[in-house]
Amino acid sequence: MWEYTGKVKEHFLNPRNVGEIENADGVGEVGSMACGDALKLTFKVDGGIIQDAKFKTFGCASAIASASALTELLIGKTVEEAEKLTNDHIADYLGGLPKEKMHCSVMGHEALEKAIACYRGEPDKVQAGNVVCECFHITDLQLERAVTDHSLKSIEEITNYIKAGGGCGQCHDTIQGIIDRVNGTLTEKPPAPKPLTNIQKIKLIEETLEREIKPALMQDGGDIQLVDVDGDRVLVKLKGRCAACAMSQITLKDYVESKLKELVAQALTVEEVVS
Ligand code: FES
Repeated sequence: MWEYTGKVKEHFLNPRNVGEIENADGVGEVGSMACGDALKLTFKVDGGIIQDAKFKTFGCASAIASASALTELLIGKTVEEAEKLTNDHIADYLGGLPKEKMHCSVMGHEALEKAIACYRGEPDKVQAGNVVCECFHITDLQLERAVTDHSLKSIEEITNYIKAGGGCGQCHDTIQGIIDRVNGTLTEKPPAPKPLTNIQKIKLIEETLEREIKPALMQDGGDIQLVDVDGDRVLVKLKGRCAACAMSQITLKDYVESKLKELVAQALTVEEVVS
C-alpha cells in the first residue's frame, strides 16, 4: 500500500477544478485509458493570465491529486510562469509522492506542456520521437528527457517516472541503452592502434635506446649499441661493463627487452650479438 501525504489524500477526496472548459485557450491531453492513466487539462487565459484551469482524469489517487494540484498551481499565473512549473512543483505542492507514483506528476507536467503548446499554436513536442515502449506509448525523446531531467539511472526509476518498461518488458534493452547513452556510460572501444611501419619501428627503437636505456646502463659503466632489426628481433651489442657482466642476459631480458616492449611494441624480443 502506498504511503500518501495528507494533502494527496485531501486532493484525491476533494479534487479541485474537475471538468472541462468550453472553448478553452489551451488543451493538453496525455496518456490513454489502455495505459491505465489519462489526463485532459484545459485552461482559459485572459490578459496573459490563466484565469481558470480544469482537468478530467482517469487514474489512481495520486493521478487525481496531481491533476488537482496542477490546476491550483496554474490559476492566477501568467503563461510564462506556468511554463516554468515542473513535475517536482506538483509533487512538492502535495507534500511529496511515493516514488512509484512520480509518473502521475510527470503526466500533469506533460499535459501542461501540451496545453501551453496548444495555446501558442506550436507543434506538440511530447509526441515527437520514435515509440520505444509500446505498452505505454513512450518515445525515445521522452525517455531521454526523463533520464536527463531527473538523473535517472535504472529501468525501475524510469518506470516510476514515466511508466515506460512497466508492462511486458520488451523495451528494457532499448531503455537501458538510452540510459547508458544519456548518462555517458556507454564505453566505446578505442580504435586499435595502427601497426608501425619498419622505418617507424626502427626509429622508435633507436630513440628509446638513446633516451631511456643507454643513460641507465651508462650509470653502471655499461653501454648498448643497436646492430640490426629483423622483423620483431632486435639485435644489440652490449658494451663496456655490460659486455663482461655475468648478469648481462638478465639485463637484456628484464630491462632492455621489457622497456622496448613497453615503449615500442609488445612483440619485440632482444638478442645479443657477440662478435
Ligand atoms: S513495450 Fe515497454 S513495457 Fe511493454
